[in-house]
Amino acid sequence: MTLILIGFMGVGKSTVAQTLAQGYQLSLCDLDQVIVREHGPIAKIFEQRGEAGFRQLEYDNLTQCLQRGPDILALGGGIIETPASRQLLQTQPQVLWLKGSFELSWQRISHDTGRPLVDTLTRDGLRQRFERRQELYAEVATAQLVLTDPVPAPADLAAELHR
Ligand code: S3P
Repeated sequence: MTLILIGFMGVGKSTVAQTLAQGYQLSLCDLDQVIVREHGPIAKIFEQRGEAGFRQLEYDNLTQCLQRGPDILALGGGIIETPASRQLLQTQPQVLWLKGSFELSWQRISHDTGRPLVDTLTRDGLRQRFERRQELYAEVATAQLVLTDPVPAPADLAAELHR
């Protein structure tokens, strides 16, 4: 069974995925990384195809990744904005919503480059996305894990997941 990780940018999805994968020798698919390997930088995809084009790529790669059935699948924070992707996620038995405050995400992402939404939206615009997405994450999540700083060690994560 694949454990799918969702949540807002900067909450720690990729770190949690890597921590679990390395700690327990699990196979991992990081959807953004798959897309970048095949199509180049995300900022460039947004530039050339727009956000809608990127969302389509996310959906296509989501279906392919699910077919491969990795132990862990980390998704980009905005995938739940696409109705077809949400529908697909709702058929999955284990979708873990990594939940953190907007402040936590903002601290981590505001100085990064390469995230087109962070580069183009104001802090308020990004906060609005954050607010709007909460109910979409809730729609597809089968469980939640509240994260603070720093991301827990593998054993603590596993303990949390088994609670
Ligand atoms: C996005 C999140 C990013 C990436 C893209 C769009 C979003 O992934 O997919 O920049 O819309 O929230 P992370 O959540 O891994 O940063």
